[in-house]
Amino acid sequence: MNFDEKTGSKVEIWAVGGGKGGTGKTFLVSQAAITLAEQNKRVILLDTDFGGANIHSFFGIKRAPKTINLFFEKKEPLENLLMETGVENLKVIVGDYRSINSGSLNFAMKSRLFRHIRNLKADYVLLDLGGGTGNDTIDALLLADRMIVVAVPEITSVENLFQFIKSSFFRKLKQVLGDHGFRDTVREIWGDRKRYGIKNIVELIEYIKKNHADVDAILTRELADFAFYVILNKVRNSMEIKEGFSIRSICIKHIGVDTRYAGYIEYDFQFWKNLSLIRDLSKMNVSQSLKKDILIITDNIMSGEQMRMTNIKNG
Ligand SMILES: Nc1ncnc2c1ncn2[C@@H]1O[C@H](COP(=O)(O)OP(=O)(O)O)[C@@H](O)[C@H]1O
Ligand SMILES: [Mg+2]
Repeated sequence: MNFDEKTGSKVEIWAVGGGKGGTGKTFLVSQAAITLAEQNKRVILLDTDFGGANIHSFFGIKRAPKTINLFFEKKEPLENLLMETGVENLKVIVGDYRSINSGSLNFAMKSRLFRHIRNLKADYVLLDLGGGTGNDTIDALLLADRMIVVAVPEITSVENLFQFIKSSFFRKLKQVLGDHGFRDTVREIWGDRKRYGIKNIVELIEYIKKNHADVDAILTRELADFAFYVILNKVRNSMEIKEGFSIRSICIKHIGVDTRYAGYIEYDFQFWKNLSLIRDLSKMNVSQSLKKDILIITDNIMSGEQMRMTNIKNG
């Protein structure tokens, strides 16, 4: 059975974001898309890195006749923008790389995009969100079913990741509490947090829970599936691999959000060299070890699982 013959089952959206440029978001999202497609899933990879679109260059697409901009500007249906790749079961919708400053999209445009994505005939739609911690990026992340964030094991990158997770979680909390009539309460308490002796979001939530009987139940229900999947990329040794566990603990303890360490990717010395020669992931032979790293990551994200300390080899 091929891509278009299969029907039914609803689309699951994975979004990859967080961190500055260069951490490997596009690399990860492309490899994950290929891995899922190889498991006979129908996958669509969508470049939503407005301003830095480059999915096309990972798949050897030089001049795309149609980009995501046609959806926004000409109301072109998304399925008309699908382009074949060299990988069976994998199609891409390329971003608009011609107008570098295509600007940001408002929330309404993003919501419309997600409504249309959910109607695509696919099992998975993977989004390359691009870098930055702007509200537009965060809103897009929050609309996805799986929120994936990438960092490299360097202090600035990890700090950036914490900031991103914190901002995203806070935005989600404000949305959830706002939807349930607590917008003013949150604003009032946070604005006057010194007087309430509140230092951070965890304490704010605790305070609201204690003083408003139903908030606990609302948050438990609304945040039941809410989790960040952390990936460490370009790791070079087992010490760096283990940093993922610390990142997870810090997010749970200090931000108060379910965070899972979905896996790591080793630094691949050959990869960049090969990509710059071949310019098409679908024609490249990636190393077995890289394949294995990606497979663990996609398996973990699919099943909501995570890395265990006992799975990490020492060295
Ligand atoms: N694990 C890795 N090993 C080697 N090179 C990598 C790895 N991950 C990413 N790269 C390279 O790093 C550069 C930045 O990756 P990219 O995915 O474009 O980052 P981002 O999308 O976060 O800006 C690219 O040249 C890519 O080939
Ligand atoms: Mg990128």
